[in-house]
Amino acid sequence: MALRRAVATLLPKISQPAAETLGPAANHAANCYSQLMAGPLDMVERPQQPVGTSFRSFAADAVTAVKEETKLTPTNRLSMSPTHLIKYAEHHHKRLEPGTEGRPFAYFVLTGGRFLYASAARLAVLKIVMSLSAAADTMAISSLEVDLSGIEEGSTITVKWRGKPVFIRHRTDAEIAQSAEVALSELRDAQKDVDRAVNPKYLVVVGICTHLGCVPIAGAGNYQGWFCPCHGSHYDISGRIREGPAPFNLEVPEYRFVEEKKILIG
Ligand code: FES
Repeated sequence: MALRRAVATLLPKISQPAAETLGPAANHAANCYSQLMAGPLDMVERPQQPVGTSFRSFAADAVTAVKEETKLTPTNRLSMSPTHLIKYAEHHHKRLEPGTEGRPFAYFVLTGGRFLYASAARLAVLKIVMSLSAAADTMAISSLEVDLSGIEEGSTITVKWRGKPVFIRHRTDAEIAQSAEVALSELRDAQKDVDRAVNPKYLVVVGICTHLGCVPIAGAGNYQGWFCPCHGSHYDISGRIREGPAPFNLEVPEYRFVEEKKILIG
């Protein structure tokens, strides 16, 4: 409708004088205008196709056979009444027969263009998929390898893992025995020592108080494990809460031994 309105506005002003002065192009424009003003294309009466014959075009002959008293466009009518008898008009297509001069080049340009589109689409999909997986530097900091051979017996080191402090204590035999003999009934967050250490020699716990998140002090408190000075929570040598407001034991992170004295946290 917008096109028709534009043509209706412009062409009357130029069609007649232009046809006289601008030659064939103006004549063609004037013809188009006349056809547009004649009314909607789908209202043109066409001879009825015999039943079972093929239609030669999409929007002209085929429409005649499915025509109804509606205001639908030819395309919409056909989409509502599809038929295998439709053949697309080919009079405005140019088919290059084998042996035609320039045919290889034309097909090379056409298929080359499609190849470029397909490559661009593949690249876009790859970029999207790759952006969904974590970057290599992110993966690197998500796990931490720690060599335990430098930790003296009876001492604790602190390492940083995913932005959090992690305590690693090299426990003595006495500390291991002391942790093992605590009755579960005495514990607020009942957990056996053997369930908190992969190798009882080394205890690995996240250094964040389970009360409100302060960092406890190693080797302090009533149980010589960790003491949180913020509100007075005492953890034992297995990192289990024994006194104070903290509700849970110090968290044991996910870790495994990759060598006898080397662990991978995360
Ligand atoms: Fe540790 Fe409150 S934060 S006791």
